[in-house]
Amino acid sequence: MSFGLLLTLFIALFAFPQIALAQNGTTVTTRHYKFNIQMSKVTRLCHTKSMVTVNGKFPGPRIMAREGDRLLIEVVNHVPNNISIHWHGIRQLRSGWADGPAYVTQCPIQTGQSYLYNFTVDGQRGTLWWHAHISWLRSTVYGPLIILPKKGVLYPFTKPYKEVPIIFGEWFNGDPEAIISQALQTGGGPNVSDSYTINGLPGPLYNCSAKALNLTQLCFYLTDTFKLNVKPGKIYLLRLINAALNDELFFSIANHSLTVVEADAIYIKPFETETILITPGQTTNVLLKTKSKIPNANFLMAARPYVTGQGTFDNSTVAGILEYSKSPKKLPLFKPSLPALNDTAYATNFTNKIRSLATVQYPANVPLKVDKRFFFTIGLGTSPCDQQNGTCQGPNGTRFSATVNNISFVQPNTALLQSHYSGQSNGIYSPDFPISPLKWFNYTGSPPNNTMVNNGTKLVVLPFNTSAEVIMQDTSILGAESHPLHLHGFNFFVVGQGFGNYDPNKDPKKFNLVDPIERNTIGVPSGGWIAIRFLADNPGVWFMHCHLEVHTSWGLKMAWLVLDGKLPNQKLLPPPKDLPKC
Ligand code: C2O
Repeated sequence: MSFGLLLTLFIALFAFPQIALAQNGTTVTTRHYKFNIQMSKVTRLCHTKSMVTVNGKFPGPRIMAREGDRLLIEVVNHVPNNISIHWHGIRQLRSGWADGPAYVTQCPIQTGQSYLYNFTVDGQRGTLWWHAHISWLRSTVYGPLIILPKKGVLYPFTKPYKEVPIIFGEWFNGDPEAIISQALQTGGGPNVSDSYTINGLPGPLYNCSAKALNLTQLCFYLTDTFKLNVKPGKIYLLRLINAALNDELFFSIANHSLTVVEADAIYIKPFETETILITPGQTTNVLLKTKSKIPNANFLMAARPYVTGQGTFDNSTVAGILEYSKSPKKLPLFKPSLPALNDTAYATNFTNKIRSLATVQYPANVPLKVDKRFFFTIGLGTSPCDQQNGTCQGPNGTRFSATVNNISFVQPNTALLQSHYSGQSNGIYSPDFPISPLKWFNYTGSPPNNTMVNNGTKLVVLPFNTSAEVIMQDTSILGAESHPLHLHGFNFFVVGQGFGNYDPNKDPKKFNLVDPIERNTIGVPSGGWIAIRFLADNPGVWFMHCHLEVHTSWGLKMAWLVLDGKLPNQKLLPPPKDLPKC
């Protein structure tokens, strides 16, 4: 061993303890984080509540890594609730044990227990996020997960002067756990949020934020408002994340256009827009070019929902302020104009603009041949009211339910991945999730009379390296609605979309197999369909569900079981020793 190598090794092992040699001789940086799950008092909209947080922060701490790094995140549960954390969008190659959805890849971490999430960020860079993945705890337990490119690798766009995470959330004055458990008891729709938030702050358009300090514009500077202070003539990279529970959002900044450069940690062909649409679960990077000279104005940045369903929703607007200087003088404040709450035309047009960069360095490896085809209906339905004296608060005295192929997923009381790995799946799940609906009907026409759903814990089993195509068809049962579907463990390519019923003869001819966007969450259009493809090259059990939390609670979820491949590096790693028990 040369002296130089010895010295490098010495420095690697002692001076920078987070750097170690991997088996293949390359260095891997390990980054350590500690998440204490704890109760903290937080005040918004003049309401103070004690809520579940990570390290007392709301939103939670930012995780930063580089492509190729290993992350070791120790989660210690100090609260009465069980918890688990999901690293949304991280592929978790062979490390499904660290994925996080409770009762899917792990039992939740019980009070007083801890679990070390251990995974490597392989072949990914961009904005992702993390959140609690049990019940509705993610309403307060979430934060950014930012993966920088490898050292020395540039962005495929102008180097920004600064990078700013902007994470949208939903604030409830009440306790979201009580809200969902009450809704599941009564069978009706849950209460909606009291405000949206930007980086945890509701902003000046809500009564309390303004009233509490009895206010003029100046008071914006003192209230619950996110402020972005910028210099003129610079480029800012805004890392937008939608962590709201139940609402897709339009977002815009007054008098400034945005250049969209990345979606779900995939570089895209840049395009300019005034307004972006972002569904829960999605992330979008945009470049904001500031005015060349300090303008005599401040600018609101605002978000409000895009809504297609028929239920009640929070129709309020969250705002933050873009300011060019800290001068206390009163400046006029410009407001952006956002699309109408139900502007599906805007939504469709926006989604259609998003195309993979598809270059040699960042190719779009869309599967060209398909081994297995699936047709999934996505939508709502009803279950019988099982209360003693008979009436529930769902449609016609029933309970709300939600399904994939008319099956409302029943959460097991042990983790699917563990029962698969230990060969004890009998009575826990069955491997017979239907490849298409058992009953065909005019999905987007007038709904069938019988809207009752089936229940079950069913999985689709895929051999290693199967390429799968899934058509997700919205149904009009209890109203057509856009559903942001999220797949764990993979990115998928969005090869086609349309309105009405999918036509297997005509529609595939229009598929984009050249530069389709690759992502982990996509809205199934209201009253339409979406076609995705993915290569099942990651063994494990992978959850797929609507990222509108209320629909997940109602059963709009299922899971894929991807089997091990033949080679040693195609097998799920063994479970960690501290994997929580149910
Ligand atoms: Cu962002 Cu299964 O979740």
